[in-house]
Order: sequence, then structure tokens, then C-alpha cells
Amino acid sequence: MTRPGGQGAPAGPSPEGPANQANPVGAGAWSWTGVLPVAGDVCQAGDVSRLGAVLRERAADLSGVFYCVGVSRPDFVEALDVERAVDTVRVNFEGALRVFYEVLPLVRAQAGGGFLAGFTSMAADRGFPRGHSYCAAKAALDRLLESLRIDLYETSVKIFTIVPGYVETPMSAQNRFPMPGIWPVGKGVTHILRRLEREEQVIRFPWYHSWGMALLGLLPNRLYWWLASRQRGQVRIEPQAGDRFQWNAEPGSAGR
Ligand SMILES: NC(=O)c1ccc[n+]([C@@H]2O[C@H](COP(=O)([O-])OP(=O)(O)OC[C@H]3O[C@@H](n4cnc5c(N)ncnc54)[C@H](OP(=O)(O)O)[C@@H]3O)[C@@H](O)[C@H]2O)c1
Repeated sequence: MTRPGGQGAPAGPSPEGPANQANPVGAGAWSWTGVLPVAGDVCQAGDVSRLGAVLRERAADLSGVFYCVGVSRPDFVEALDVERAVDTVRVNFEGALRVFYEVLPLVRAQAGGGFLAGFTSMAADRGFPRGHSYCAAKAALDRLLESLRIDLYETSVKIFTIVPGYVETPMSAQNRFPMPGIWPVGKGVTHILRRLEREEQVIRFPWYHSWGMALLGLLPNRLYWWLASRQRGQVRIEPQAGDRFQWNAEPGSAGR
């Protein structure tokens, strides 16, 4: 699903036709047979219903859905913006709920089984500085995926939780702080598809980001809160050019 005027995901139909597009990581149980762009906003019920209708008509053999939608925006106690924060929660969480509920009956109807996959974040593990809405939405999505996994445990539908650290995409390009160990997007996609084939239902990567978060999770709360509060000033995130919400990366600075 792409937004009206959006860039598409990942591209329009190939000149050779959808059936001739190869899986970019090669062979395996998981392959894709083409791209079917459907413009819409995942937070709009009508748009998601229309997506479902298109899929039922043109992709009746749909075996799985990745919810890769997300927005990364900081929240500032110095410059609160409730509309921006609510929209961040809606795109990262409400949209996933809508899309998964829309497509689940179609996926469940597949004789060979199927899957739903959602992208959360290591920002769901603990509260991050200036991450009120993003951390909360990703944590909610994490619980949604786990609840679905439990309800579908005895069925042939698998639920995948994908938990990236930093990956080179337009989203991470917003960050004006060091991201050591960031992965190229191709490496991330290859890693995800390999883990999917092994049916690892929680896919966290890179391992060193994951281990770092696990260590932070072991800290006593007060120590974690103090350490994280020291990082507040480091969290500088620029808006994407097409975002209807704009903000200063550092409130009170001379920036945008
Ligand atoms: N990159 C990272 O380092 C990183 C780390 C942790 C988690 N994640 C998560 O991984 C997922 C993929 O992120 P990414 O890095 O690929 O981000 P991205 O490059 O910014 O892509 C986000 C996508 O979401 C779409 N989108 C945003 N709002 C939408 C809406 N209301 N309706 C429909 N589509 C909408 C965008 O469409 P347009 O192209 O039309 O704007 C874009 O295709 C996200 O859930 C993100 O939170 C990423």
C-alpha cells in the first residue's frame, strides 16, 4: 500500500510483467510474484477496505503480508504537539491493526497456510528519550503481534515480529546522530527472509543492537532512566520532506 502521491513499495510493475520478477534474495519457500500498487492511507478505514477488495480480487492466493509502514518523529516536552504524537501512534499501530484485520481472513483461507509480519523496533523494548509516541506505538504493535500469534497458534498462519536496529532507509536518514553498526537495507531484507524461511517468529537484528538492548533491559530502572535522560540532547531527528508535520530537530535551536 502506498499513499496517494507516494513512492510506491517497492516499485511499480516491472516491464517484464509481475510474474517474471524474481525474488531478490534467490530461491526458497518465500517468493514474490509482483507488485500491485494500491494508493491509500493505512489509517483510513475506506482505504484499507479498498486494499482488501483489491487483494481479494487480484491476489486471491496471497500467502502473507508485511506491514512495513511507519513514521519516526520525536516528541519534545518543551514543544508538545499532540496531533503529531497521535498521528505517529496511528500510523505505527492503528494502521497495522486495520491492515491485519482486513487481510487475516484472506490469509487464513489459504490451503497452504500463510503469515502476517509486522515491523516493530528496539525502541519498543524500553522508553527512549523523545520517543513518547514512537516507543508506545511499537510496544503496542509488539503486543498485538504476540496476541495474534497466541490465537493462531494451532493454525497454519504464522505471525512474525520483525525488530530492526538501525537500517539504511529514508527513515534512518532523518537521524542526526551516530548510528554505529547500521545495516544496508539489502542485508536487512536478506536476513529477514532467511529467518522467515526458518520460521523464527521473532526476528531481531543486528545481533549487537539486540544484545545491547538486552543489557540495557537488565539495568535497574533508576540507572536506566538516568543514563537515558543523559541522551536526550543527542536525539535529533529531522522531518522527512513530505511529512505534513514539521518540527525543529532541537527545540529552541536555529534549525528547521
Ligand atoms: N530504518 C530503521 O532503522 C528502522 C529501525 C527500526 C524500525 N524500523 C521500522 O521498519 C519499518 C520500515 O521502516 P523504513 O525504515 O523502511 O521507513 P521508511 O523508509 O520511512 O518507509 C516507511 C513507509 O511507510 C509509508 N507510510 C507512512 N505513513 C503511511 C500512511 N499513513 N499510509 C500508508 N503508508 C504510509 C511510507 O510511504 P511513502 O513512501 O508514501 O511516504 C513509506 O513507504 C517501519 O515500521 C519502521 O518503524 C525501521
